[in-house]
Amino acid sequence: MLILGIESSCDETGAALVRDGRYLLSNVVASQIDIHNRYGGVVPEVASRQQIASIIPVIEAAMQQASCRWEEVDAIAATYGPGLAGSLLVGLTVGKTLALAQKLPFIGVNHLEAHLYANWLRAGDGQLVGTDWRVQEGDPLFPLLALVISGAHSELVLVHEHGSYELLGQTRDDAAGEAFDKVSRILGLGYPGGPAIQKMAQQAEDAYVQQQKSVNQARKAYRLPRAWIRGTYDFSFSGVKTAMLNLAEGASRSMPAEQRAATQVTQYTRMGEQAAQHGELDVALLASSFQEAIVDVLAVKTRLAAEEFRVKQVILAGGVAANLSLRQRMAQELKPLGVRLSYPPIDFCTDNAAMIGSAAFFHLALGERHGFDLDVQPGLSL
Ligand code: KG4
Ligand code: ZN
Repeated sequence: MLILGIESSCDETGAALVRDGRYLLSNVVASQIDIHNRYGGVVPEVASRQQIASIIPVIEAAMQQASCRWEEVDAIAATYGPGLAGSLLVGLTVGKTLALAQKLPFIGVNHLEAHLYANWLRAGDGQLVGTDWRVQEGDPLFPLLALVISGAHSELVLVHEHGSYELLGQTRDDAAGEAFDKVSRILGLGYPGGPAIQKMAQQAEDAYVQQQKSVNQARKAYRLPRAWIRGTYDFSFSGVKTAMLNLAEGASRSMPAEQRAATQVTQYTRMGEQAAQHGELDVALLASSFQEAIVDVLAVKTRLAAEEFRVKQVILAGGVAANLSLRQRMAQELKPLGVRLSYPPIDFCTDNAAMIGSAAFFHLALGERHGFDLDVQPGLSL
C-alpha cells in the first residue's frame, strides 16, 4: 500500500511517499526556521500563512522525487493534531481535498503517535542520500516504552501493541524541547534551541578534554536543579529553566549600570550573551550543565520505567531524540537491563511526513478511515 503522508502541525511543511508503512520512497520538508529565528520562537499566525505558501510545492516535490503518478497512490494521510490550529488546518484540508479529487481513502494521523513510527522507517527505492538507517534495527518489540520528547510534549508511554497506549507520566509544566528553546533564548543562542545548545555544550566538553579534564567536569560546572518528582513518571523542566534565568540575571546585576540598562531593554534574549562578554558566565559551560540536567532526568526516569514494566524495547521519539548526549546516556542506562534502544535517524526525529505515512498504514490496514468532516484537534493526546 502506497500512502502519501502530509504534515503541517507547526512550522514544518512535509510530504512523503511511504510503502507498507515502512519503506520511504520520498521525503520533502520545508522548514520555516529562518523566519521564526528572527522572533526567537514560532509565531502561529506566521507559521500558518507559511504553510499555505509551501504545501502544494512540497507535495509536488515529494511526488516527483518518487517518480510517482497519482494512479499509484492508494491512500492519503494528514496530521489532524496535536499542534497549532491554523497550521494543522492547511495540511488537513489539502489532504482531504486531494483524497476527494483522486477518489482515495483518507485518514487523519495523531502527530505524537507518528513520532514513534519514525523508529521503523527504512530506505525504499527512492533517493534518500545521507540518512543513516543503521541506527534502526528490526521490528517493534512489544511491550515497549516510548519517551516522546518534542517542543510541546514530554511523555513516557507504555506501548502494549500497535495503537494500544498507556500514559505513564508527562511534564507538569514545560516540555523538554520547550526548555531547550527558552534557555537558548536566555543564552542568546537562537531558535531552535536544542541543536544550538548541543553545539555549545560540545564545544565546552571538547575544550575540557583538551585541558586534560573530564567531560563530566564540564557537565557539572554549574549546579542546576533536577525535579525528580519521586514516585511518579512525571517531569518538570521549569525549575531548571528558571535557575538558568536567575544565573543570567544575577550576572547582569554585577555589570556596570549603563551596560545593565542596555541588557534589560533587550529582555532576556541577549542577557546571557552580554553577561558572558562581561566575563561573568561561560555560556558554553552553562549549555553543557543545562543539557546534562535535562538528560539526567529523562534517562533515569526512562530506565526506572523500563525496569518496572519489564519492556523489551525503549524508543526515543520527537525532536529532542536528536540529542546526541541523550542517546549516549540512554544507552548507558539501559545496557545493564539488556533492553534494546532505538531512535530515528537525526532528520526523522524532528517533524516530517514520512512518519505520518508510516503511522497511517497501521490504521488503514485495520480498515480504519476518516470522513471528510474530520476537524483539527490541537489538543489531541495519545
Ligand atoms: O518534534 P519536533 O520537531 O516538533 C514538535 O512536535 O514540537 O520537536 C522540536 C523540538 C524543539 O524544541 C527543538 O529545540 C528540539 O526539538 N530539538 C532538540 C534537538 N533537535 C531538536 N533538542 C535537543 N537536542 C537536539 N539536538
Ligand atoms: Zn513533532
